[in-house]
Amino acid sequence: MEKDDFRKFGREFVEWLAEYMESIEKYPVNSPVKPGEIKAKLPSNPPAAGEPMDRIFRDFQDIILPGITHWQHPGWFAYFPANNSPASVLAELLTAGMGVQGMVWQTSPAAAELEEVVLGWLRRMLVLPEGWSGVIQDTASTATLCALLTARERATGHEANVRGLKVPLTVYASTETHSSVEKGVKIAGYGKENLRVVPADEKFAMVPGALEKAVREDIRAGFRPACAVATVGTTSSGAIDPLAPIGRICREHGLWLHVDAAYAGTAAILPEKRWILDGVEGADSFVFNPHKWMLTNFDCSAYFVKDAAALVRTFEVHPEYLKTGVDAVVKNYRDWGIQLGRRFRALKLWFVIRDYGVEGIRAMVREHIRLARLFEGWLHGHPKFELLAPVDLSLVCFRLNDGRPEEALNTLNKELLARVNASGKIFLTHTTLKGKFTIRLVVAGRTTAERHVREAWDIIRSEAERLL
Ligand SMILES: Cc1ncc(COP(=O)(O)O)c(C=O)c1O
Repeated sequence: MEKDDFRKFGREFVEWLAEYMESIEKYPVNSPVKPGEIKAKLPSNPPAAGEPMDRIFRDFQDIILPGITHWQHPGWFAYFPANNSPASVLAELLTAGMGVQGMVWQTSPAAAELEEVVLGWLRRMLVLPEGWSGVIQDTASTATLCALLTARERATGHEANVRGLKVPLTVYASTETHSSVEKGVKIAGYGKENLRVVPADEKFAMVPGALEKAVREDIRAGFRPACAVATVGTTSSGAIDPLAPIGRICREHGLWLHVDAAYAGTAAILPEKRWILDGVEGADSFVFNPHKWMLTNFDCSAYFVKDAAALVRTFEVHPEYLKTGVDAVVKNYRDWGIQLGRRFRALKLWFVIRDYGVEGIRAMVREHIRLARLFEGWLHGHPKFELLAPVDLSLVCFRLNDGRPEEALNTLNKELLARVNASGKIFLTHTTLKGKFTIRLVVAGRTTAERHVREAWDIIRSEAERLL
């Protein structure tokens, strides 16, 4: 690329992105391509000689864009969101342009120090305990793996890192826990058979008494309980595990308590929703994803620990080539997680918080919760729709129910979801709750406004009426 091309295409791309953001509703939210369709349009071999940027950009628009699922579409109600914002995107451009790699303080002092400061801001925004330390991980899955590894080391007096696991350690999580816990348990060497699945109550929250029983039984049977994972905002239904009693049980039996608030954590910045973290002070670690509901483009997970020394002791290694003269007085985040090389993610978080201000972010989250409640009200008012879980935040779980047998209801709702998504205007996904096929609607897109939620309801209701 010629020197001036960077300027020319830089302007053009930003212009294109601005236009994309403004006109995103013209795209089908869910890409309509079939498996293999994109691959078939791409050459198997790389070009021997460089190609002009305008041709590359044309191919991006002609080949790649049709295969994009538009996560920032206001009709995005699927999974949990990965919302972003212009400020975040601009910060990411600066990060990429400078090519920062912040593995140790010396490799970009500003990256390390801004991360420490911005995580301090987040800690205060969520009213997490004074004295907890934060670090950015790529995803909640990685943060949870870090928690499982640190818990393993604490339970073995840091022996497992040296000799491997000699005694079976057990981990506890509820039936509703995210799959990243099972993955972490496997990777961290606990063994999947040592993951105890604790029952949940009728609201899908972990039953503390059942946790206590499982821990006591394991101790009697010669296992060493090491870690429990509680969830604030479960993936299927948004359930909130009771942190205070779970924390008491963990403390009594010496378990590490990790709290996974990947989606819901952002809501704790609202004073009226801070209760979702009641009891978090009894935990050892906590994660939430600014890349889900806090306007920071993927990826960016905020991981907090009570005892930073335990975390660092689990991960630190000191090869000669990484030593610097200031190691004793700075934070080298390479020792706070799995990877050595680290992206400069703090910059986008800093841009977002400054661009919106805490009140600006609160206003968005409040509005999403209001819209979810509005949708919940419409469901209540319709004789053929059924709510399947409490709506504490912005996730609504529901199904169509005309009284036919359960199996037929599952088929009916599967069909309803397929038809709704075929509209191209909205995208919702499903789960199962107590064996019932459940449609999930999550309101958390930056540009999702009341008219989009009304449109979603119109599409869902009219497709349902057509099906009945
Ligand atoms: C409760 C919960 N935990 C963890 C995750 C995994 O998040 P990540 O993609 O950041 O690993 C999710 C994803 O939706 C989630 O809902």
